[in-house]
Amino acid sequence: MHLLWILLGFYYVQFISSQVYNVRDFNATGDGKTDDTSAIRAALAAADNSNGGRVIFDCGLTFLTGAINVTSNVILDLCGTILASNVSDIFHYPLVPPLPWYGGGADFSESGSPERQSVIRSYNATNITLTGGGVVDGQGYPWWACSWSASALEKPPCNNISR
Ligand SMILES: *[C@@H]1O[C@H](CO)[C@@H](O)[C@H](O)[C@H]1NC(C)=O
Ligand SMILES: *[C@@H]1O[C@H](CO)[C@@H](O)[C@H](O)[C@H]1NC(C)=O
Ligand SMILES: *[C@@H]1O[C@H](CO)[C@@H](O)[C@H](O)[C@H]1NC(C)=O
Ligand SMILES: *[C@@H]1O[C@H](CO)[C@@H](O)[C@H](O)[C@H]1NC(C)=O
Ligand SMILES: *[C@@H]1O[C@H](CO)[C@@H](O)[C@H](O)[C@H]1NC(C)=O
Repeated sequence: MHLLWILLGFYYVQFISSQVYNVRDFNATGDGKTDDTSAIRAALAAADNSNGGRVIFDCGLTFLTGAINVTSNVILDLCGTILASNVSDIFHYPLVPPLPWYGGGADFSESGSPERQSVIRSYNATNITLTGGGVVDGQGYPWWACSWSASALEKPPCNNISR
């Protein structure tokens, strides 16, 4: 019981000491249909610019988005759903260096070709919290289909980019 209060106290202190960025304040709709990519990136950029904070995705809403970067000292407070866009262009999924432990070898500056950015990505960052009990739906089906046949590989979203 004491431990619980200590934990709650810590949580409370952490909450009030953080700035809060609700993605809806950056004009994300959360309707599951509108592309909220730019709004969500703007909210995360605002958090990054003030060295972190709590970025809120409200309960009961679905936020359709392309890839996002989560930077240091960000609490990604996801109660609703992040639905990965299946629009596979460079705006939604930029090419980034492969993570050192993924694909391109230990030193991507010398080996490894660019990869499409994952839906939620962090690089060279610390103190990130993912909380809120929500859902990240990667809509993987069209991407997995790329590897099921050569003819699927030729079509969007694969566009002959093999992994
Ligand atoms: C949100 O949309 C309103 C109305 O179009 C606009 O005035 C406001 O600047 C937008 N806010 C952001 C953060 O883009
Ligand atoms: C995410 O950060 C990487 C650098 O680590 C950058 O290359 C990429 O364009 C960024 N993606 C977005 C969506 O801002
Ligand atoms: C971690 O990030 C949270 C949220 O921004 C912040 O309140 C806390 O002070 C950070 N902790 C450290 C050790 O920087
Ligand atoms: C792509 O995503 C939309 C939601 O934005 C969904 O309605 C559609 O069924 C998806 N298409 C495929 C091929 O998964
Ligand atoms: C990692 O972040 C630190 C401090 O923010 C910066 O000085 C350094 O250049 C970054 N390293 C890479 C490989 O991005």
